[in-house]
Amino acid sequence: MNAQAENKKIIFSGVQPTGVITLGNYLGAIKNWTKLQDDYNCLFCVVDMHSITVRQDPALLRKRARDLLTMYIAAGLDPEKNIMYYQSHVSAHAELSWILNCFTYMGELSRMTQFKEKSAKNGANINSGLFTYPVLMAADILLYQTDLVPVGHDQKQHLELAREIGTRFNNIYGDVFTIPEPYIAKVGAKIMSLQEPTKKMSKSDENPNGYISLLDDINVIKNKIKRAVTDSDREVTYSEHKPGVKNLIDIYACITGESIESCVDRFTGKGYGELKLEVAEAVVEELRPVQERFKDLQKNKDYIDQIVKKNGETANYLATKTLRKVQKKVGFPVRIR
Ligand code: TRP
Repeated sequence: MNAQAENKKIIFSGVQPTGVITLGNYLGAIKNWTKLQDDYNCLFCVVDMHSITVRQDPALLRKRARDLLTMYIAAGLDPEKNIMYYQSHVSAHAELSWILNCFTYMGELSRMTQFKEKSAKNGANINSGLFTYPVLMAADILLYQTDLVPVGHDQKQHLELAREIGTRFNNIYGDVFTIPEPYIAKVGAKIMSLQEPTKKMSKSDENPNGYISLLDDINVIKNKIKRAVTDSDREVTYSEHKPGVKNLIDIYACITGESIESCVDRFTGKGYGELKLEVAEAVVEELRPVQERFKDLQKNKDYIDQIVKKNGETANYLATKTLRKVQKKVGFPVRIR
């Protein structure tokens, strides 16, 4: 990919390789990305460096990183059109992160909601990586002169800080970084837990019935939807007062591309049993081919290895260009070649 030559806007997003990949990740992020790949130059990073802010099992982290990258491709992201790579393979992320640390205030980082939440949960391991996590994220984004970042609500504050740090640097040294904007998807819904539909579907849910893993067995998926929490009412309506039913309709609409109104029409007068059956059918039909491709890709070790290598090199090339500029600006000695 030649980002400059094609004159398309640059999109960057990252996902941590922790936990399983859920239907929420798929419908809320990955599926939408497949619609961006023709109009933008996209980088989809597996942010393994962010993951070690919480202790990880090494073999499992490695496997999950590989699975995530494989899943991107299985879900329809073309490795020829998008740069999908591991953060840890591009050392510029760590190097820029250090420099940006020196342009970020303790006070700013202390205000990050996610840091407060994570350190409350993780009292025994409040490490400085957890604290500077948003700086690494800013480095991820700023390294590629990113125009747009598709983020969910929980990452908005981090993106805002990335903009702040980038602007601060630019104000001192001139226009070095493109200041990124949030990308708000036109479609795509926030998918909620099947068991507690007022909470986001999360891979870290203790109850596995709350989420659907993209790699769940077809029968498991059907059962989880069958057991989804609704309410004691019988009538299918789309409202905040019926979060369970609303979530099922959202899932259906998101997969089929049908409008909410038309879905509501379709299910009005039908019972919850039938609603669940049809939603399960739609989910299974959507995920079956993704699962098949995933399994085929997993067997094709050389193919994935080659993508990892090639995309890693491209990312490295683009990132190094920005890094060298930054190093020069702050006064590091120029390299002799
Ligand atoms: N912090 C993000 C999350 O947990 C992941 C992430 C890391 C990211 N770097 C990024 C997202 C850059 C967007 C852009 O969801």
